[in-house]
Amino acid sequence: MKIIHTRQELAREIAAYKAAHQSIGFIPTMGALHEGHLTLMRQARQENEAVVCSIFVNPTQFNNPDDLKRYPRQPEKDAEAVSGICDIAFIPTVEEMYPETPEETYDFGDLEKVMEGPSRPGHFQGVAMVVSRLFEMVQPDRAYFGKKDYQQVAVIKRLVALKHYPIQIVPVEIVRASDGLALSSRNALLHPDKRQKAPFIYHTLQQAKALSSTHTLDEVEAFVKAEMAGDTDFELEYFQIADAESLQPIRNFEDAEHVVGCITVWLDGVRLIDNVEFK
Ligand code: PAF
Repeated sequence: MKIIHTRQELAREIAAYKAAHQSIGFIPTMGALHEGHLTLMRQARQENEAVVCSIFVNPTQFNNPDDLKRYPRQPEKDAEAVSGICDIAFIPTVEEMYPETPEETYDFGDLEKVMEGPSRPGHFQGVAMVVSRLFEMVQPDRAYFGKKDYQQVAVIKRLVALKHYPIQIVPVEIVRASDGLALSSRNALLHPDKRQKAPFIYHTLQQAKALSSTHTLDEVEAFVKAEMAGDTDFELEYFQIADAESLQPIRNFEDAEHVVGCITVWLDGVRLIDNVEFK
């Protein structure tokens, strides 16, 4: 595996793949890699001739400077973890990614007005800034994203449509720890006693899914909110049941063909997100 730090070097490698008509699978990451990322990379390995990942903690998608400062960083360990799977790990500096201050904006319409949108103003604009740059540099045939960041997948699909990128977005199922907690780089920030409590989020979502066959959407939402309110360690930011395509809130489970429930909870000062597909 080659570790590449500059656009020029990356451009040379990509040109060689293109000249050889090799398909490219791409996995953008912010590092602190775990089994969820490696699952995306292994799937990309099976479906493409060349596999490129990026490791870059993108400052433009953090609306909270403390969150950016605290974000776990372990570049050497990450490079080691991906070395047997990827052909290239692109690890640029901030100056390399943003030689000029990025100023573009993207119109994601209502997609940006729900859930993570109002909770993290500017977050998806920052994600789009970095992902569009990476897509233009790597020119992948397929790009892989975990379904834990459900709204991010929808935003990236919208970005691809807006920019007419000839890239297939491949959403991949959430990878969970054996106790059910969705894997996330942020889990490493939890103290061990709080980490033990964190699977409560997943178990609540599973109970909500079971209830959804016999209860109304309002009752299911109320159940999740009451469960979270019942333990003072957890602070619910939102739980939203929505149309899984548009991510707009619905009032009945029958209102959409595919329905998802997305949750964001604070535990031990750490922001955890998860979701459940109801149907
Ligand atoms: O999901 C992430 O880790 C990031 O949002 C991404 C897609 C790598 C962009 O920085």
